[in-house]
Amino acid sequence: MKNKMAMKNKIKLFDPVFGKKEEQAIIKVLKSRFWASGSGSGNVKIFEENFRKFVNAKKCVAVNNGTSALHLALSLMDIKGKEVILPSLSFVSTAHAVIYNGGIPIFADIDPKSLCIDPTSIEEKTTNKTKVILPVHFAGLPCNLDKIQKLCKKHNLRLVEDAAHAAGSTYKNKKIGAHGAACFSFHPVKNLAMPTGGAITLNDKKNVMYGNELKIRRWCGITSRKGATYDISELGWNFYMNEFAAAVGIEQLKKLDFLNKKRRNIAERYFKEIKSDYKMPMDKGCSYHFYWICVNNRKKFMRKMDEQGIETGIHYKPIHTMSMYKNKKTKLIETEKVGENVVSIATHPNLSEKNIDHIISSINKFQNI
Ligand SMILES: Cc1ncc(COP(=O)(O)O)c(C=O)c1O
Repeated sequence: MKNKMAMKNKIKLFDPVFGKKEEQAIIKVLKSRFWASGSGSGNVKIFEENFRKFVNAKKCVAVNNGTSALHLALSLMDIKGKEVILPSLSFVSTAHAVIYNGGIPIFADIDPKSLCIDPTSIEEKTTNKTKVILPVHFAGLPCNLDKIQKLCKKHNLRLVEDAAHAAGSTYKNKKIGAHGAACFSFHPVKNLAMPTGGAITLNDKKNVMYGNELKIRRWCGITSRKGATYDISELGWNFYMNEFAAAVGIEQLKKLDFLNKKRRNIAERYFKEIKSDYKMPMDKGCSYHFYWICVNNRKKFMRKMDEQGIETGIHYKPIHTMSMYKNKKTKLIETEKVGENVVSIATHPNLSEKNIDHIISSINKFQNI
């Protein structure tokens, strides 16, 4: 039975951290009457430049969400009729973005220790039709980019990172987003939260040339704008970020490293104090967008946690098991196992020490039921 107190003070799985600065930023945009990007106080431009500097990327293009970021980034890679290798343990946007661009998603298995894509499985899935590798930094834990980059070189493939969970994560002391083409989500559940938002960062020479191309595609293909006149040179979408989102994002970005450190400290407590052997590893470069554990009976475990007033989640039901992507040939042993018993646990910095104690003791009580 759920007790009333637990329900009233329910511990949320995701909860944006904001203060007066975000409130003031929103009011300022509201009163400016310039709500779309490209005019007024130019928050979108400022956010783009600040985020570019933060990750130390050569280019940054802000968009309206992480799905659009993936859609646009892959539009640079000419994937029509070609294969893109990605993990199935992800949000469905990772695969949809391949389809939007006429590509064929090929699901590779995960490394059961990190839940990130397994480079050995990538190699097995590579064919002469493969064009792009699309890894996901799962829960903010950086993939093995060295191995993946080596595979790209060996098979002449392009790399696009799904960094939706990884704003502020680092790999080999460089921020995720500084290595190649990376796509971020700033959905309100993410560690850099906006009402909705996303960004693409570009680094290698080929990609950097395409920064302007992306800006054209993000706004309906509009080019050569002079006053009220413009031309359309190609197909584009209405993917631009709005001024409210950017204004909130500017404030969120200022505290991102600090908040990620708090998330890491919470994860460290989970790592040390949760008695299960199968749990998310510690990595000083991880943003810990959430923390994951694997349990025996997920349905029962999640119900027990809910009764304790603790919200948990599932990231993810594997994409290749969804009706749209089902295909008899795809068998991913590790992904399917984890897909049955992985549970996500809150790491947001609104958690109090008491909340964390309660989460840990409840997990230790119920994980083996
Ligand atoms: C791994 C992953 N990729 C892509 C996305 C899409 O981002 P958005 O919701 O901002 O479109 C998400 C969002 O949940 C995600 O978790």
